Amino acid sequence: MSAAPVGPAHPVFVDVDTGVDDAMALAYLFASPEADLVGIASTAGNVGVHEVCRNNLALLELCGITGVPVSTGSEIPLSAPLRTAEDTHGPQGLGYAELPEPTAAPTSYDAAEAWVRAAHAHPGELVGIATGPLTNLALALRAEPALPQLLRRLVIMGGSFDYRGNTTPVAEWNTSVDPEATQQVYAAWRDAQELPIVLGLNLTETVVMTPALLDRLAREADPQADIRQRPNPLIRVLSDAMRFYFEFHESQGEGYLAHLHDPVAAAVALDPELVTCRPAAVDVELTGTLTRGMTIADWSGHWGREPHALIGVDVDPAAFFDRFITRVAGFARQLAHPGPSDHS
Ligand code: BDR
Ligand code: CA
Repeated sequence: MSAAPVGPAHPVFVDVDTGVDDAMALAYLFASPEADLVGIASTAGNVGVHEVCRNNLALLELCGITGVPVSTGSEIPLSAPLRTAEDTHGPQGLGYAELPEPTAAPTSYDAAEAWVRAAHAHPGELVGIATGPLTNLALALRAEPALPQLLRRLVIMGGSFDYRGNTTPVAEWNTSVDPEATQQVYAAWRDAQELPIVLGLNLTETVVMTPALLDRLAREADPQADIRQRPNPLIRVLSDAMRFYFEFHESQGEGYLAHLHDPVAAAVALDPELVTCRPAAVDVELTGTLTRGMTIADWSGHWGREPHALIGVDVDPAAFFDRFITRVAGFARQLAHPGPSDHS
């Protein structure tokens, strides 16, 4: 197994619609020494925003992490009615997993303000990750148009480039829920020095979690345990969540497996070398009657615009899983010997 390179720690702010694979992404961030998690924004998407917020708070508490503020975002997209995906992520967003009601409360300020506060607190340093609809980030840009200059890096899970959609024949879920927000975020990064990294389904659907990989995670987390009992608290929650996600993918005719979209974004945010990207101008279809929410990369310069995003086009899934499993299993092992860890 390849040893995971560990770079310097960076302040990280993550915007999620937790969501089974968002939860897996959070677990990866909790487990990663390069991530100094300074805040979590909750976005309406896979489930309603209050469920998302509850899931984020509950996951932090499950993992004994204090000092990471969680903020509630807008209840609805910028201009479209909210759609949610309980069929994909379960009634509360975490599949079959059940977490106790969290004791902590969300911040008094909203998720858009949380983005701005985090960027101002760490100018030029903050690594931003968005694995849900971009509603909060678009609203944050209205309050602070200089966000693209203030961030060190932005990694977005969303879109689908020269590839099928998962919500309509051509549109990916995060973009499809709030196409206007996506369009505004892409546009805002046009003059940024650091191009955002955009990971669409063309890339993330190559990263396939299987029951065998999930068993490997459980075994590495707790080599002594009977695997069927899943005694480790974090692994039990992730396994119960993933079981629902596997079943959903199977119901779609894809097999008993699941695409780990959001953990790839988390991993790439901490180590962009994990993916190969191609620069391109990107945009979102807002008006097409059949194609609303479709993302387009202008690889050939037809629009005459400078490239303003780096589109992920290749990843080594085995390298990703080696790193994911090593880190999350190691972190889960520590939870068996509880003791609060303060990320503030
Ligand atoms: C994206 O949609 C959501 O359901 C997942 O959490 C992921 O962020 C994939 O299209
Ligand atoms: Ca998500």
